[in-house]
Amino acid sequence: MNDKIPYGGDYNPEQWPQEVWDDDHRLFTRAGIDTLTVGVFSWSLTQPAEDTYDFTVLDRVVDRAAAEGRRICLATGTAALPPWLAKKYPEVNRTDFEGRRHRYGQRHNFCPSSPAYRRLATAMAGRLAERYADHPALLAWHVNNEYGGACYCDLCAHAFRGWLRERHGTLDALNDAWWTTFWSHRYTDWAEIEPPSALTEHWRGPDHTAFQGVTLDYQRFMTDALLGCFTAEKEAIRVHDPDTPVTTNLMGLYRPLDYHRWAPHLDFASWDSYPPLDAPPTRAALGHDLMRGLKDGAPFWLMEQTPSTTACRDVNPLRRPGELRLATWQAIAHGADATLYFQMRASRGACEKYHGAVIGHAGRDDTRVFREVAAVGAELADFGAVSLGARTPARTALLFDWDSWWALEISDGPSRLVRYPDVVHAYYRAAREAGADVDVVPVTTDLTRYDVVLAPVLHLIGDDLADRLETLARRGGTVLATFLTARCDVHDRAFLTDVPGPLAPLLGIRVDEWDARPRDVVQPVDLGGFRTTARLVFEIVQPRGAEPVGTYGADFYAGTPAVTRHTVGAGEAWYVATALDQPGVDHVVRRVLARHDLIGPYADHAAVETATRVAPDGTRLLFLLNHAPETAPLTAHATATDLLTGKHVDQGAPLVLDPLGVAVLRLSG
Ligand code: GLA
Ligand code: ZN
Repeated sequence: MNDKIPYGGDYNPEQWPQEVWDDDHRLFTRAGIDTLTVGVFSWSLTQPAEDTYDFTVLDRVVDRAAAEGRRICLATGTAALPPWLAKKYPEVNRTDFEGRRHRYGQRHNFCPSSPAYRRLATAMAGRLAERYADHPALLAWHVNNEYGGACYCDLCAHAFRGWLRERHGTLDALNDAWWTTFWSHRYTDWAEIEPPSALTEHWRGPDHTAFQGVTLDYQRFMTDALLGCFTAEKEAIRVHDPDTPVTTNLMGLYRPLDYHRWAPHLDFASWDSYPPLDAPPTRAALGHDLMRGLKDGAPFWLMEQTPSTTACRDVNPLRRPGELRLATWQAIAHGADATLYFQMRASRGACEKYHGAVIGHAGRDDTRVFREVAAVGAELADFGAVSLGARTPARTALLFDWDSWWALEISDGPSRLVRYPDVVHAYYRAAREAGADVDVVPVTTDLTRYDVVLAPVLHLIGDDLADRLETLARRGGTVLATFLTARCDVHDRAFLTDVPGPLAPLLGIRVDEWDARPRDVVQPVDLGGFRTTARLVFEIVQPRGAEPVGTYGADFYAGTPAVTRHTVGAGEAWYVATALDQPGVDHVVRRVLARHDLIGPYADHAAVETATRVAPDGTRLLFLLNHAPETAPLTAHATATDLLTGKHVDQGAPLVLDPLGVAVLRLSG
């Protein structure tokens, strides 16, 4: 296995003449680059016509990497179609939400139900595996690239109907699940079912649907259809290569695909992190923790990040000096066992020519960005293998659920202003800034290992979750749920009981009414003396065993509970009935964590992030990340060695983090 954290990124030497390759490798060595992701967009080169395969350039790329002592992450290259393919088989081009059949152009645009695409993509994956399976440089397979989007063509409609038969069995069951008697939609033949689009159930776009049931099922179907493309390529690889791990680069909090359905099929998770540079650092961290949660806490790869700037937004700010290093260590702190860039050398033309790269158009090694990349490379070389395979010993779980995300954001009412990732992030951020390690996990996860379970806006809930949460509370754990949780079953049908449905007994409350207001309507909330504010949705809670922890301060529900706590066995179940502003969320979450002694030793330093990993040999690492541009004067909470400087620090001694500084403490004992 690896003796250090693989370091490198997407490399497209096929765009360049041989002399440039020489420069590239010279600079890679200087920057400590040992891993190259190759072939991501080379289909038109490796298969210039249907019956012609040509691997001469790829052979040279791979052999050269090996000769230079570098490993490769080999892509199947099936994300960008060659023009001949789209021309010859127009079915591979997607039909969009408006019903327009596209013609050749762009990338990430193949119809997942197209037999021609499936046949040719898997043939390519198979040929590559046959050719390179035994190559000594091969480290991993990278199938396709950033699967995403959706297609609404007739092939997809047909496949959707087949998928629905599998899921629902009978039309009666489907009619019941989608509640089709509403607006006279009872289907009497599977062929009558249309993909939900601008031509059918939707108006104003993908979030406005007359039937949530069909739209939800289409999201699940599209997730599975694209997953089918991935698994077909993986199978084609496995025919020739039984061992090398296979992944595809995911996109973190990416709404269209339920990555929890993908997770079992990935040998390891990998993802591309492009947080808006003005977002709080917990945004990127949430992506890392969600990706780590895909494989039950196993390490993942940071497959792409930019060394400096992106090129895809209206405005593309630079990473400031030191920010790249900090982001890299943040990924490692959260479980990354490889950190790679997009891209190694800037493309000369087309839409990403201004995208940040390790090597710019001038090919220099004396730029600030190159120097920072090389400094990180040297640091990773020194750091070695100590964190590889290490896991996060989190005692706090945050339940993340794509079904709930979709259902919440396609719902007409109570509010279109509630965005799932924002609420999830608010709770995640509160826990992280308090110093708790957090596993971001699917609702099916075994919860017995956690003390605290956070369930923000978990809009849909399935059969046994209420029981599992209650078991956790009874044995002393704490469950926290929020407004708009447990409203509907997995088909988005309201529960025919008091709100919040199956969680009402656990939470000890009943909700009959809710008030949704524009963003500028602010409701004062008093959390037992801590005064804060809330907005968007105000549920009116009647305690049924729970005690109020906070109350609304205005309107006709002034004085009624905004936050409640219910004692359940040895534990507690909290309910937050409104979208508290961040200080309120922080206050509530810290009270919950404090009960379990989960507030970290540096929680008073707002800009200092901490994250723990425990290596397979038991070595305990505490990552300290100073996100502020000022020094952070800390006091060491334990005796430790900083693996980045080699310095020993005694418990109680000063521990100063530089501006944007990092320490990786190996804790003694
Ligand atoms: C994605 C893709 C890359 C590149 C970058 C640009 O992550 O996978 O091919 O387009 O975005 O940021
Ligand atoms: Zn299609």
